Amino acid sequence: MYDGNKIIPGLIIFVGLVTFPFWSNIGRAAYERPELKLDAVETECVEPAEWMRAEHMRLLDDWRDLVVRDNMRLYVNQAGRSFDMSLTNTCLSSGCHANKAEFCDRCHATLAVSPSCWDCHVVPPTPIVEE
Ligand code: HEC
Ligand code: HEC
Repeated sequence: MYDGNKIIPGLIIFVGLVTFPFWSNIGRAAYERPELKLDAVETECVEPAEWMRAEHMRLLDDWRDLVVRDNMRLYVNQAGRSFDMSLTNTCLSSGCHANKAEFCDRCHATLAVSPSCWDCHVVPPTPIVEE
């Protein structure tokens, strides 16, 4: 009734197919680390870079809510320096992340994140860097 000659190879093929996504990725990183380009004049972001990397999405959402809901526009960082809470005028300003395409977008694209903010917010034209 049971044909061991077919079941065993069948099982092997089945297990092979089911686990294909795992072993076909052996030795490969889940994603290539993107090469980010930052032509900033400023040497520091509004908060330390390490913190921004992990928290910028929450910080920017907070900025949005504070400005739009509470009409508060000034952000004072941990070092006591104040900034206009603005995506276009602060984050993407000429001395900072003016090159959104090669910084923000590269990381977001690698991780398949697409913030909808720029459906409305203005992206300043990419600066032409003199070589
Ligand atoms: C549907 C359109 C729309 C979308 C999408 C949108 N915003 Fe806004 N946002 C506005 C408008 C309108 C204002 C008010 C502009 C003002 O008062 O200066 C604003 C203001 C802001 C401000 C303060 C002012 C400034 O110059 O930046 C921040 C910060 C902000 N939004 C962040 C975000 C973030 C972060 C996202 C994405 C997660 C986002 N917004 C998505 C429409 C939008
Ligand atoms: C090193 C990687 C990296 C870089 C560089 C980066 N981001 Fe992000 N960003 C992320 C990740 C990851 C998320 C998604 C987080 C999540 O879904 O919880 C994200 C999400 C966001 C969001 C989404 C907030 C929301 O509620 O939808 C905004 C806004 C944002 N980033 C703005 C920026 C801006 C502006 C820059 C450039 C100045 C930038 N990011 C650079 C990794 C990065």
